[in-house]
Amino acid sequence: MAIETVQSIVLKEKIPEEFIRSQHEQPGITTVQGTVLEVPVIDLNDHDQEKVLNLIVDASQKWGMFQIVNHGIPFQVLSKLKEVGKEFFELPQEEKEVYAKPPESKGIEGYGTKLQKELQGKKTWNDHLFHKISPPSVINYRFWPKNPPSYREATEEYTKWLHGVAEKLLKSLSLGLGLEEDEVKKALGGENLIYLLKINHYPPCPRPELALGLADHTDMCAITILLPNEVQGLQASRDGHWYDVKYVTNALVVHIGDQMEILSNGKYRAVLHRVTVNKEKTRLSWPVFLEPAVDLEVGPHPKLVDQENPAKYKTKKYGDYAYCKLNKIPQ
Ligand code: SIN
Ligand code: FE2
Repeated sequence: MAIETVQSIVLKEKIPEEFIRSQHEQPGITTVQGTVLEVPVIDLNDHDQEKVLNLIVDASQKWGMFQIVNHGIPFQVLSKLKEVGKEFFELPQEEKEVYAKPPESKGIEGYGTKLQKELQGKKTWNDHLFHKISPPSVINYRFWPKNPPSYREATEEYTKWLHGVAEKLLKSLSLGLGLEEDEVKKALGGENLIYLLKINHYPPCPRPELALGLADHTDMCAITILLPNEVQGLQASRDGHWYDVKYVTNALVVHIGDQMEILSNGKYRAVLHRVTVNKEKTRLSWPVFLEPAVDLEVGPHPKLVDQENPAKYKTKKYGDYAYCKLNKIPQ
């Protein structure tokens, strides 16, 4: 019988050097164990709607993240979306590459494997597909998979339902700032607010304690509404500690992004988050980023700024903000 040496185990379990995070990032070392604190789970259909509003506002200030249940999107709509996305990532590489982000493209739509330039050239254990889903005027179907054939129908159905949830969240966030319910949405472009879908695909990783599916970041959009599959992976940072965001069946995860932090002049905080990977299972997630058009200027809402409360953030075009963020140029 061949002897299994430590070396052979190490070799078998080896992952390329560029995927090994530095010690201060390794999830095996830096995750808070046990549930001392948890990202809030909010029942959107609670009969006490004032309580719901307060919970959303409170979570947006303290965590910049919360989960919502009883959001009204039927279970079948969620499972269909998950099914077609999973089928797409299971296609042979050549078929997926038909949707690759064109090298000359300035946008981010398409299939790819790395978005942000990372410090020290580290890589994350992830590939993805980006395409816009709303409003209809910004959709480019060239980036929507034709296979599986029901991809388009499933995605359109999800988009339809998601609008209702997004409207409700934007209204709550607006009221929480002491504004009229439609003012936050207006400041983000009103009906021109863009819904950008990303599908994240995180294959199994032999050394999950050393690697990350996504390194720590805040989302640059206004808010993100995310549907994960059942594999644990999302983590939120609070007070310098990393917490698992527990998977809750059929829940959607909401992130406050940079534009909402800016618009609220810092009342709401964009959540720093990251994604861990699993040794045996493939994780998938479907974030939808609600973002302004590139030429729209976003800054602290004028009604929130006066002599006592000076603007804490610059006002700039979203496109310029995004360019600086993706290229790690200080804002
Ligand atoms: C993301 O941060 O874009 C995705 C988070 C996740 O996969 O849960
Ligand atoms: Fe994110």
